[in-house]
Amino acid sequence: MQLKNYHAVVTGAARGLGAAAARRFAAEGARVVISDLDGDAATACARGIDASGERVTALACDIADPEACTRLVDHAEAFFGAPIDIFLAHAGVGFAGSLIEAETAQIRRVVEVNVLGSIYSAQAALRSLVRSPRASLLFTSSLQGVTARAGRSIYTTSKHAIVGLTKSLALEYGPRGVRVNAIAPASTDTPFLRKQLAVAGAKDVDQAVREVAASMPLGWLPTPEDFADAAVFLASTAARSITGHNLLLDSGAAAGIFRSSQAR
Ligand SMILES: NC(=O)c1ccc[n+]([C@@H]2O[C@H](COP(=O)([O-])OP(=O)(O)OC[C@H]3O[C@@H](n4cnc5c(N)ncnc54)[C@H](O)[C@@H]3O)[C@@H](O)[C@H]2O)c1
Repeated sequence: MQLKNYHAVVTGAARGLGAAAARRFAAEGARVVISDLDGDAATACARGIDASGERVTALACDIADPEACTRLVDHAEAFFGAPIDIFLAHAGVGFAGSLIEAETAQIRRVVEVNVLGSIYSAQAALRSLVRSPRASLLFTSSLQGVTARAGRSIYTTSKHAIVGLTKSLALEYGPRGVRVNAIAPASTDTPFLRKQLAVAGAKDVDQAVREVAASMPLGWLPTPEDFADAAVFLASTAARSITGHNLLLDSGAAAGIFRSSQAR
């Protein structure tokens, strides 16, 4: 019970990594608002964790809409009857494809959700977090927030922006008691990754997932549960002196150039 009676909000939490984190926050004793663009899936996820709706609730929110972000924070404060302690700004979209072939609408959506959406949700969240005595703002960046990857220039740019936002807000809001950190996962086996692999042309997506795992120094992909562990750690008092940090959750991928044939 590392988060007993904490008040947590997770965006993009209807499925995948966000749902895993929301589930763990609740298991650790937090009351949780599960938010997602897909309101029905968010409600189903919340009901799956807490059928009574007393400790876990859901709200539809497109983080690319600043007014929706404000409504989310207002809704969460009303549900908790107190300020937010943990806000995990997780929602994001991927894009795999060459820059010169990308359509303007595709570029715009990645920036609107990943960059502007992170800024809008952080802005709304901070208005509440500054009133919490144990406030933690978390972002989901990516391995591509630290290292670039060919064919991912738009997504990589958006995730580097989140790392800059994390560091900036850590400096600006540390004096007001808010810790600001990010988690940087490498490819994790969620619908997000499977969709990216399919769009990139993988015929056998299961096989493609196995190949990505084999390309990691550890030989496995981080799991949604690993992501939830990192989120609980960063939000808990165990990380009370950690802020402005981008925690790599990457099975060693960012450590250097890895070729399995050279491993001994
Ligand atoms: N899964 C991976 O391999 C991986 C790796 C690194 C980083 N990430 C990051 O994790 C986040 C999502 O990953 P996931 O694996 O949980 O994906 P997912 O596809 O399983 O879930 C993403 C959720 O975000 C929601 N969403 C999309 N746009 C939204 C918006 N505008 N407002 C609110 N909700 C929105 C979707 O409806 C979905 O429920 C992204 O920020 C992504 O960049 C994922």
